[in-house]
Amino acid sequence: MSVKELKWGIISTGWIAGCFVRDILGDPSSRGVSDVAHKIVAVGSRSVQAAQDFIDREIKDPSVKAYGTYEEMLADPSVEAVYIGTPHTLHFSNAKASLLAKKHVLCEKPITINTAELHSLIAIAKEQGVFLMEALWTRFQPLALEFKKIAESGELGDPVSLHADLSGDFDIENIPKTHRILDPMLGGGALLDLGPYPLVWAIMALYEHPKNKAAKPERITGSMSKTLLTGVDAFTSFTLTFTGGLNAQAILSDCITLPAPNPGVIVRYRNGTILVAPPIYSPRSFTVQYFDKPGSGVIAREEVKKFEYVGKGWHFQADEVARCVRDGKLESEVWTHAKSILEMEIFDEVRKQGGYVFPPGVEQVV
Ligand SMILES: NC(=O)c1ccc[n+]([C@@H]2O[C@H](COP(=O)([O-])OP(=O)(O)OC[C@H]3O[C@@H](n4cnc5c(N)ncnc54)[C@H](OP(=O)(O)O)[C@@H]3O)[C@@H](O)[C@H]2O)c1
Repeated sequence: MSVKELKWGIISTGWIAGCFVRDILGDPSSRGVSDVAHKIVAVGSRSVQAAQDFIDREIKDPSVKAYGTYEEMLADPSVEAVYIGTPHTLHFSNAKASLLAKKHVLCEKPITINTAELHSLIAIAKEQGVFLMEALWTRFQPLALEFKKIAESGELGDPVSLHADLSGDFDIENIPKTHRILDPMLGGGALLDLGPYPLVWAIMALYEHPKNKAAKPERITGSMSKTLLTGVDAFTSFTLTFTGGLNAQAILSDCITLPAPNPGVIVRYRNGTILVAPPIYSPRSFTVQYFDKPGSGVIAREEVKKFEYVGKGWHFQADEVARCVRDGKLESEVWTHAKSILEMEIFDEVRKQGGYVFPPGVEQVV
């Protein structure tokens, strides 16, 4: 079989864009991949100097083109797919422009800041006949695949409760109020930035569980605690109650002033427990505890699953994009449009209950 080499353009030169390109520049065979490969052909930034510095620093290939606007990069016919690493509130306009230029799109989480923006992007992607996916990288990592195998084997019984938290101390008293984690104009706060990760575990363990039959949670509750600095949420907790086949509840939280707890995810079954070590966006191990009899809580056996690979884990999602583009798919069957829509619907509801309203003009579609 011939190897599909996907030709990427990178939009933005910030922290996550650097992480992504370092991973996809690694040799795919180092992670056992031989059917797809990646080539970065262009970088677009708000400044041509920043684009060139990024190329010199991260890519070290003089053939990669530097553009001083995102639009110029999107006009480059050698770019097949675009990776978007701008702050949340820009995802919609950057992705829309990319789709209209007939580029396939992998866009950082959260893919948009509300459900209406996402529906609009999906409609444009379909009209243009191009691929669109949110960069929910955790879902593509080898650990997630093994987690699902065990979680869905039936040996532990049905999942009943899931606790997941992603927190990170952003030192908010000492960073500028214009930092994207604090600035409401950039969709700041814990929920939109960190919330996708506790949620992705609830989606993997509960929503995707075969017995759930893809039923959305019947009830969503949310509560936010805001920082006085800018009014964005510093701590958010939300629960999802699944009743469409499973009777299960997810209790999720995220915080921008605390470190991540350990374990970061606990999934409880009558026959045992799965504990996932932090960081829950790219964990390298999880532990399965099997009880001596259902409901006893007495651990008869414990198994620790460890995962090693070259790179930090952002490349697995890129492999998925390359395979989908090769196969002419407009969406991934793994991280589907429906899962991103569910995520956005949950975040809209939690923001509503938590009283988080974006400043006027931030939402591009309402
Ligand atoms: N998957 C993950 O693990 C992960 C981790 C961290 C962040 N993220 C996501 O990635 C996105 C960016 O986060 P980041 O930490 O990389 O942010 P960052 O370091 O601030 O980088 C954002 C980049 O976006 C561009 N940009 C365009 N307009 C901007 C504006 N008005 N203000 C600031 N930057 C602007 C800039 O690049 P140019 O100047 O070159 O245009 C900037 O360097 C967020 O949506 C976040 O949720 C994902």
